[in-house]
Order: sequence, then structure tokens, then C-alpha cells
Amino acid sequence: MSAFCSIEWTNNQLRLLDQRQLPQTIAYCDYRDYKAIAEAITTMVVRGAPAIGLTAAYGMAVAAQQSSATTLDGLLADLQIAGDYLMRSRPTAVNLSWAVKHLLTVAAAQAQSADSVESMQQAILAAAQALQAADIEVCKQLGAHAQALIPAQANLMHHCNTGTLVAADYGTALGIVRLAHEQGKQVHVFLDETRPRLQGASLSAFELKTFGIPHTVIVDGASGHVMSTRKIDACLVGCDRVAANGDTANKIGTYNLALVAHAHNVPFYVACPLSTLDMSLASGQEIEIEERADTEITEIKGQQITPDNTPVFNPAFDVTPAKYITAIITEKGIVYPPYRENLKQLSA
Ligand code: MRU
Repeated sequence: MSAFCSIEWTNNQLRLLDQRQLPQTIAYCDYRDYKAIAEAITTMVVRGAPAIGLTAAYGMAVAAQQSSATTLDGLLADLQIAGDYLMRSRPTAVNLSWAVKHLLTVAAAQAQSADSVESMQQAILAAAQALQAADIEVCKQLGAHAQALIPAQANLMHHCNTGTLVAADYGTALGIVRLAHEQGKQVHVFLDETRPRLQGASLSAFELKTFGIPHTVIVDGASGHVMSTRKIDACLVGCDRVAANGDTANKIGTYNLALVAHAHNVPFYVACPLSTLDMSLASGQEIEIEERADTEITEIKGQQITPDNTPVFNPAFDVTPAKYITAIITEKGIVYPPYRENLKQLSA
């Protein structure tokens, strides 16, 4: 178990580690209202694809408790409203709708079979807790498969934050790094700072420091220089949605990193739990890319850094074309091109 936990069900309410305050302050927020949970996802108290999914799942459990329905069908109707609300909180990570749909499937089955509203509420909570427990195993399996790609001495490059903070434990790309470290491999990670929200500089550096894993923070624009002057064994990134052809949406700047890796013949690996695979989308062109507030770019720590009224464009994610991805690592194994065929086979 880790020294910190981003999502916890305790005292019959949801507790989230406020990631906006890391690394300076470790503070928690408690939730008993699903609309406040949706707000926590939007404002990035909690973030990262798997964590958003788990939080939404608990949002459904909270909604079940908030419901004043006296019938099973009434509770199901309230959960459908809550599910729609939660799914609107952030658009790009598919884990959010994946988790809500899973909970709605459980709710629909319960509406047919439960003895009472109370037992249906309990079943919804148990389903959310089961997703959180399963997430730990998924991340460990994904990390175990990935070890075949990580040499005993590895110099890696990573974008955004993909570790324990974004999951029940371990995480995906940084979970691979943590497992390698636990197995005694000599790993060092160059962490892109990840403008504009600095998940790499603040969150990934916080995690790797906590676990005693050697790392160096670089600005996003330094990846080309670092790859041309140091030996980098691999880039490891997470993902928010992978389309059926392998095109991958992840934090803005991932595509640039993939191009730099391609230019230097550095393998570019995407860690993708199957909950982040969206086989309903033929290609990355269909992925909705979230755009966030201008102030994420025009201000640093509340201080304006651009002239008044400077136009900005702030996409939170980009899509890396599958042709730049060496392999996609899942809990069921490593997938190589051609992705359309191989992802289909894996998810069947
Ligand atoms: O905007 P964020 O911080 O939620 O973006 C997070 C990322 O892009 C991660 O790389 C992704 O969710 C994968 S986390 C395992």
C-alpha cells in the first residue's frame, strides 16, 4: 500500500486527496453530494483517467445514498440522472463513462432483483469498491507485462502523471516504473514538467520522491535535447482514450514527445488499461478533446504572465497517431501493430 491514497471511501463518504495542492500540502476533501464530486473532477481535485473513473463510480454510490426514491425503479431513474451529470464533468478520458455505464448496468440488474432500496444502495457501493480493488490488480498485471520492455538499467522519459495518484495504487506508466524499481532494476526517469498544469513537476516528482525512484524534471521543450544528448531507453506515457486503430489521446504534449522519440529511434510505449480502450471509435479523429480555461496559460500561480486580453488556445489533450506508438501495454499483455487487428483480438 502506498504512503498516500487519492481516493478513499471512509465514514460513508468519499474522501479525495486534493491534487491541486500537492506537493506543498497534503489535504483531503470529503464528499456526500454527487454534484460536488462532478465538480471535483472538473476542477481537477482528482485527475488522471483511472482515478476519474473510480471517482465517478463512487459518485454513483453517493447519488444512490442521496436519492429519496422509495422504489427500485425510482432509484434507478435517479441514478440515470446522476450518471448523465457525472459523465459531463470531463469529456476526454473514457474511463469516466466506462465506470458510470458499469454502475448503471449493476443498478439495472439490482432494480430487477434487490429486496429493498437499501440493499440496492449497498450493491451500488459494493460495485464501486470492487472497481477500486480490481484497479490495483489491473495496474500490477499491466506493470508485470511491461517489465519485458524495461532493461535492468533504464533511462526513461515520461509525460504528465500516471502513478499512484491516478489509480487505486501503482498506476499505469509510472506503475511500470515503480514495479521495475521494486524488482531491483536501476531506473531513472526524465519527467516532463507538463505545461500548463505541471502534473510532471509537481505530482510525478512527488510520487517518485516518495518511492525513492531517481528522477530529473525537465521542461517539455527539452525532450529533443535530452534525447539527442543522453541515451534514453524508452518513453512511457499513459492515455485517456485509445481508439480502435491505436490512436491515443493523452495529456497535451504527448504527441510532440512521440515525434521526438520517433526522430531518435526511441521506443514509445503507451500504458493502457482496457478500461481506457474505446473500440467504438474508429480513429483518434473522433476523440473529443477537452479545452480548459485560458487562465491555465495566461497565469502562473494567480500571476498574469501575458498582456491583457491575449488570445490563447488551451487543449488539455492531444492525439498521438498510432504509427508513432511502438507498443500498447495492457493488463492482458503487450500489443504491437497492426493495432486495429490486435486490439480487436485482445478486447474480444
Ligand atoms: O488532465 P489530467 O491531469 O487528468 O491528464 C492526465 C493524463 O493525461 C494522464 O496521462 C492519463 O490520464 C493517464 S493516467 C494513468
